[in-house]
Amino acid sequence: MASFFDMSLDAKIEALKAEFEKEASSLPAEQLRPRFVGPSGKVRALFGELKTLPPDHKKAAGEKLNALKNDLEARIEALASAKAAVGPQRAVDLTLPGRAPELGRRHPVYRTWDEIVRVFSRLGFDVVYGPEVEVEANNFEALNIPVDHPARDSFDTFYVEPPYLLRSHTSPVQIRTMKARKPPIRVLCPGKVFRPDKPDAGHSPMFHQVEGLLVGPGVTFAHLKGVLDLFVKSMWGPATTVRFRPSFFPFTEPSAEVDVTCFICGAKGCPACKQSGWVEILGSGMVHPKVLANCGIDPEENTGFAFGMGVERIAMLRWGIPDIRRFTENHFAFLRQF
Ligand code: PHE
Repeated sequence: MASFFDMSLDAKIEALKAEFEKEASSLPAEQLRPRFVGPSGKVRALFGELKTLPPDHKKAAGEKLNALKNDLEARIEALASAKAAVGPQRAVDLTLPGRAPELGRRHPVYRTWDEIVRVFSRLGFDVVYGPEVEVEANNFEALNIPVDHPARDSFDTFYVEPPYLLRSHTSPVQIRTMKARKPPIRVLCPGKVFRPDKPDAGHSPMFHQVEGLLVGPGVTFAHLKGVLDLFVKSMWGPATTVRFRPSFFPFTEPSAEVDVTCFICGAKGCPACKQSGWVEILGSGMVHPKVLANCGIDPEENTGFAFGMGVERIAMLRWGIPDIRRFTENHFAFLRQF
């Protein structure tokens, strides 16, 4: 007789456990709690049956029911904290707008590079590239910079294994182009260049240049001036003009530094142009006859001009950026302004 009640209670406990497992797979802890262990839950109902048991069975049955209650409460707590841990991911709100991936943007140096390339492309210049790891002869000797010439210092560079080095300007692309093509030649050579300079506001061991080269019969300094005048007007507006100052480069003769009327203040005078109204943007000149000859081009039949500008420098002037190091620090607050 006693065993009938015991078995009945055991069976009910087992049935309740099975029911709990089934519901726990689909219902959240907040709903399981009142259904099973709350004041009007199923475990409480089983406790109610205790009074129907004979007195000598009550203690053992009560212990079993308490164990069941503790067991289920622990399971519900475990489910609740597991959900809290993954909460935000599991709580998918389908009415929220989707997360738009954040779009990157062109780096200010490459934006400037693109603009320079666009202007010269319209003037019929091909864009060509040369390697950043260059041979010494192309960076120096072919450009009329002999080993012991003092001008080598201003184009000093990082040496890899002989004969390789990191090019210190884009001018070696002139050499590669003139060796590979016959005049008329009209190319623009953008790229990275390297110099062993200690980084400061105006120096960086790596920066970008754009080289221009035009070679053919009867090319004169007037063509250089005309092309650069067109370039600055396209970049900064029709009121912009250029000024040539005599200079020296071993690979051009004559050579000139080119200034442009300050495109920040319109040549009135400002901090960017140091109140002068002019800013220096590039070096240029007529390709030295020796350089033409080094590349197998007869300097009696062909002449040419070349120029080289620093892309960072133009970007800094344009946006009033005071320090070249900003370009390579990868601070989003800086980069997102452009
Ligand atoms: N290569 C020179 C420099 O890096 C610039 C230049 C290019 C000058 C072509 C004249 C002609 O400073």
